[in-house]
Amino acid sequence: MKILVTGGTGYIGSHTVVELQQQGYDVVIVDNLSNSHAGVVDRIAEITGKRPEFYNFDLIDREKTKTFFEICKDISGIIHFAAYKAVGESMNNPLMYYRNNLDSLINILQGMQDNGISNLVFSSSCTVYGQPDELPVRETSPIKEAWSPYGNTKQMSEQILKFAVEAHSLKTIALRYFNPIGAHESALIGELPLGIPNNLVPFITQTAIGLRKSLSVFGSDYNTPDGTAIRDYIHVVDLAKAHVVAVDRMISGKTKLPFEIFNLGTGNGFSVLEVIQSFEKVSGGKLNYQIVDRRPGDVEKVWADTSFANEELGWKALKNLDEMMLSAWNWEKALANKK
Ligand code: NAD
Ligand code: UD1
Repeated sequence: MKILVTGGTGYIGSHTVVELQQQGYDVVIVDNLSNSHAGVVDRIAEITGKRPEFYNFDLIDREKTKTFFEICKDISGIIHFAAYKAVGESMNNPLMYYRNNLDSLINILQGMQDNGISNLVFSSSCTVYGQPDELPVRETSPIKEAWSPYGNTKQMSEQILKFAVEAHSLKTIALRYFNPIGAHESALIGELPLGIPNNLVPFITQTAIGLRKSLSVFGSDYNTPDGTAIRDYIHVVDLAKAHVVAVDRMISGKTKLPFEIFNLGTGNGFSVLEVIQSFEKVSGGKLNYQIVDRRPGDVEKVWADTSFANEELGWKALKNLDEMMLSAWNWEKALANKK
């Protein structure tokens, strides 16, 4: 069976393509390479021994998307990763975010409707919860007002899906990711942040390899045991495997509702200092860091209640924090060796 993976050369998309192929699915990728490289297709082929089909175009282009669906028949399901994801950038360029993240989704939904494709997995985010009133956060927890246009596009996308699914008899699973980190064990694919990384783990590994001088730890006065903010970090391969489970679930007709939502995390929260300690343990070196002020817009603590995903999908994240940090470090070292 053929699965369309939009954003399939990106960070989470590329790991998911590998898992899909290893489970016997054929994959066609659409990506405009706005935040990834065509070489990723070669790396995927190197890992799996199978080259995914690849189309390079912008999904906000209605005509091109329509033509793609006319050419590329027999798609059994779609995983829609393609989106912009930098929170800070979205504050400065909100319209760019609304246009890219919403238009691409609408064009995909139109393609599904026109071509009788009924299964969609959508990349959502724990950002939709803001700072939850209760932890761990459940799928039924209230959606809080968005703190950024990026977060708002995820909330709006979920709402668009809810209505589109009802009107057009589609099946959708929205997966709310917590904090994906780490890289494939082959160290052939991983996260490739452009410029200075915003996210914690790439900043840590780039500091350790010598690309950055020092990590700034944003805030040590949070109401947490060591004062630094807490997140639910999940290995990207565990996350990728959940997408295969979601696709299997839809294709085999096991969904219980036309629109389902699952949290994807480990259920464990770790502070920034705990992440640094884990990195120092697996890398065997000391990380240069300093405590600075809080980063505006950061929530204090958030971690997932994963029981719904564990029970209903039969999926569980398996890798622990040390394994996540080691794979991220191996990836950074592999990148340095290529230069
Ligand atoms: P990424 O930037 O590595 O991958 C996204 C891919 O989509 C890129 O390869 C990019 O070139 C492509 N793309 C973007 N806009 C496109 C368009 N209009 N047409 C065609 N291709 C386009 O990001 P990622 O970390 O792999 O994230 C994948 C999805 O998961 C995104 O929707 C993101 O919002 C969501 N998400 C990510 C995180 C995270 O921490 N990485 C957390 C929660 C949710
Ligand atoms: C952020 C976004 C989230 C998005 C995700 C992926 C916010 C509020 N959330 O998650 O919506 O899906 O990125 O792009 O922006 N930290 C440091 N120093 C650094 C970098 C981070 O101390 O240099 C801390 C942060 O304060 C935070 C933790 O590390 O406590 C994780 O940060 P990060 O990796 O950026 O992810 P989030 O902010 O959780």
